[in-house]
Amino acid sequence: MTTAIIGTGGLGSVIARQLATGGETLRISSADNKSARTLAAQIGRAAVVAVDNRDALQGADAVVLALRFTVLKGVIDEIADQLADKLVVVPSNPLTIDAQGNLSRVLPEGQSSGKVVAGWLPAGTRLAMAFGTMSADLFVSSSNRSPEPTVLFYVTDDDRAGEEVERLIRTAGFEPVKAGGIEQSGRLEVGGDLHDLVVGPAEARSLIGGA
Ligand SMILES: NC(=O)c1ccc[n+]([C@@H]2O[C@H](COP(=O)([O-])OP(=O)(O)OC[C@H]3O[C@@H](n4cnc5c(N)ncnc54)[C@H](OP(=O)(O)O)[C@@H]3O)[C@@H](O)[C@H]2O)c1
Repeated sequence: MTTAIIGTGGLGSVIARQLATGGETLRISSADNKSARTLAAQIGRAAVVAVDNRDALQGADAVVLALRFTVLKGVIDEIADQLADKLVVVPSNPLTIDAQGNLSRVLPEGQSSGKVVAGWLPAGTRLAMAFGTMSADLFVSSSNRSPEPTVLFYVTDDDRAGEEVERLIRTAGFEPVKAGGIEQSGRLEVGGDLHDLVVGPAEARSLIGGA
């Protein structure tokens, strides 16, 4: 199947590599497409560089918006009319980074980023918050673990989106575990109790129930 990856920076590039390794076909784009072209050359035939963000969605079953939270709404507005028949996956943490590299939260404490993102999307969009639950380095090093696979947590309010994101998570080399509905997205973010964990399915399920 085909997934569009918009944003090919620190996180988008590793998501793209893992999905391509798992057999997914990719259409990728970035702000000026330089990083997208470099990444596509590294991945090979499984990745096609799109002309722009809208072109990335042509023929895609799903789209991963691997973008900083501060640019997310602008890109969603750009592609909103193309999202009706697709899974939308958002890994963004609600953070901004200053010139000194200091991170700060862009939403008030307690406000769910997933609810904010859902409010930016057209009604009925199949949204899953996923793939942003661990650092890019940890994502790579803990993928395709055996004998016990590493869990990647996700949240969604939509059953079909759940099935679709579970397929993508498995393609990327992880075992999917749902942590709840979109309002639970804070648990997956930097600072959340399920962020940056490398756990197997049994421990993951006990953590879900333990909140
Ligand atoms: N990095 C991590 O370890 C990590 C872990 C968990 C979650 N996350 C989350 O993932 C998101 C992305 O983080 P990152 O570290 O990958 O950021 P990043 O390295 O700054 O990459 C951002 C990407 O977005 C692209 N971009 C910016 N504006 C765009 C636009 N209008 N249209 C298309 N693409 C655009 C950039 O394009 P160019 O390459 O052309 O500049 C770049 O490829 C963030 O929300 C972060 O919270 C990151």
